[in-house]
Amino acid sequence: MKKQLILGIETSCDETSASILSKVGERIEILSNIVASSADLQSKYGGIIPEQAAREQIKAIIPAVEEALNQARVKPNDLHAIAVTQGPGLIGSLLVGVETAKALAWIWGKPIIPVNHLIGHFYANWISDRAESTPKFPCLGLLVSGGHTDLVLFTGHNKFKYLGGTRDDAAGECFDKSARLLGLSYPGGPQISKFAQKGNSASFKFPRPMMKSDDFDMSFSGLKTAVSNLVSNQPRTNLQLYDLCASIEAAIIDSLVIKVTKAAQTYQTEDIIVAGGVAANPKLRKELESSLPDKRILIPPPHLCTDNAAMIASAAFFNRQRIDPFKLEANPNLSLAY
Ligand code: KG4
Ligand code: ZN
Repeated sequence: MKKQLILGIETSCDETSASILSKVGERIEILSNIVASSADLQSKYGGIIPEQAAREQIKAIIPAVEEALNQARVKPNDLHAIAVTQGPGLIGSLLVGVETAKALAWIWGKPIIPVNHLIGHFYANWISDRAESTPKFPCLGLLVSGGHTDLVLFTGHNKFKYLGGTRDDAAGECFDKSARLLGLSYPGGPQISKFAQKGNSASFKFPRPMMKSDDFDMSFSGLKTAVSNLVSNQPRTNLQLYDLCASIEAAIIDSLVIKVTKAAQTYQTEDIIVAGGVAANPKLRKELESSLPDKRILIPPPHLCTDNAAMIASAAFFNRQRIDPFKLEANPNLSLAY
């Protein structure tokens, strides 16, 4: 069987990632996946400063591509294509990846495949050495990242129907903003998740907005406001950090699980695929599995939930929209809601 090799490049937010994937038949294998993060800087400043993130990425991108090729023991000439995140994301960051990919495609004489970052997240679920463990169509897809929260119905590769999503903040954003209010470092999701394990999720009553609405939309900004009011109206010493984290995490996860369950009742798919940074949360997996025992819940391993170039290369194997490299432009506003 013929082996295909793709170099993926991802720079939509604060990570700089390059990865080589091979595909033989249905088997997709990661040969290398380099992820350089400026998380230490973000943690120091409590969030991402776009200009600073892009500057770090300019320094990191070529070493990341070189390292990805070296670790995979692949020469540029062996590559079949270069896949790159076209959007959505921070424009300065996206430009670093897109312009690098264009230059490499031109120098090496390779085709370029633009990938929507949000679709890319879902394709982390297709990285597997066993065809039976990859998603089967039709399947429901829940994307939960730092900037997006969307529910879609996939009917095939590159074919999906948008069902709904957040009307304001994303689930990851809600974790991050709540963590900041509690004085925890960025990114807040993993911190809240860690402290939540020692807390009681029934300690604080936080809202679960739109739970009764007759659609698949969600809302998280009210929860952030409730946390803000609580923290500013109480002396710090009265608030139990572990209980607060457990209650915040439970409110976010309940909101997601309720809408996924509603979608699963409406669209009787066997598989539900989950993707994006918040998919790394163990409680989300547990709650989805216990609420939907007759469904197969597919979630990538945690390091493939957060931003990485392997998922971008994986998406490119199935969505071969080739484009003249000189016509490719970064698009910070790409979305799933067409
Ligand atoms: O997908 P991602 O790496 O970047 C974007 O495309 O936005 O997602 C980052 C988000 C952040 O909001 C982060 O707090 C959240 O994913 N996150 C988590 C966990 N790990 C990362 N949220 C909850 N629990 C986690 N274990
Ligand atoms: Zn992402």
